[in-house]
Amino acid sequence: MEKKLAGEKATEYIKDGMTIGLGTGSTVYWTIQKLGELVSQGLQIKAIPSSVDTERLAKKAGIPLTTFAEVDMLDLSIDGADEVDAMYNLIKGGGGALVREKFIDTFTRKFIIVVDESKLVSRLGSFPLPVEVIPFGWEVTCQSLAELGCTPVLRKRNDERFISDNGNYIVDCHFTGIDDPASLHSRLKQLLGVVETGLFIDLTTLMIVGKRDGVEVVSPKKNLT
Ligand code: A5P
Repeated sequence: MEKKLAGEKATEYIKDGMTIGLGTGSTVYWTIQKLGELVSQGLQIKAIPSSVDTERLAKKAGIPLTTFAEVDMLDLSIDGADEVDAMYNLIKGGGGALVREKFIDTFTRKFIIVVDESKLVSRLGSFPLPVEVIPFGWEVTCQSLAELGCTPVLRKRNDERFISDNGNYIVDCHFTGIDDPASLHSRLKQLLGVVETGLFIDLTTLMIVGKRDGVEVVSPKKNLT
């Protein structure tokens, strides 16, 4: 219910003619369903999905899709998160869609995060940090990750290695806590084999928190008019 409230509320910021980035997960699911209704009522938008799952849901909901071949800057992206800290920095990638999510959440004028209260933390890192790595040499990439102070665990699904939409692996990095997300992100990005990290730093324009009795809208950067 909290996720539904947050996910649906975000559609109020979508205006006719916009190009939208659609995130991935069980909160954005509700955004997609509501957006499908609005499109069927005549709203004219196009969207770039951040995963194969979201693409499938969006097509089913009748939402017209586009790609970065046609659009170089989205008007608005709406996405979920696994953790949000007090500076509105995020851990994402619990669903394995972090690379494409980072594209839509970066190349956008405005970025709305939709979460329930369980995602709010004072410090990032209780949720294992997802890092996408190329399959070749993943074992040595894991050693490099461990040298940065975490326990790296190759993600599996149904006993098989999890494969991202980009054909890569996900390593879930268990830190005891992340004190400086920006510095950690930079250090991780320098490692051979790392494609992208689930740290989303300083991107959030607006956060919508679904609660039992409604939604709270928090605006870290007051440019969403
Ligand atoms: C997908 O890779 C993730 O980044 C999701 O956005 C995140 O896990 C939030 O998912 P829920 O909305 O399902 O909690």
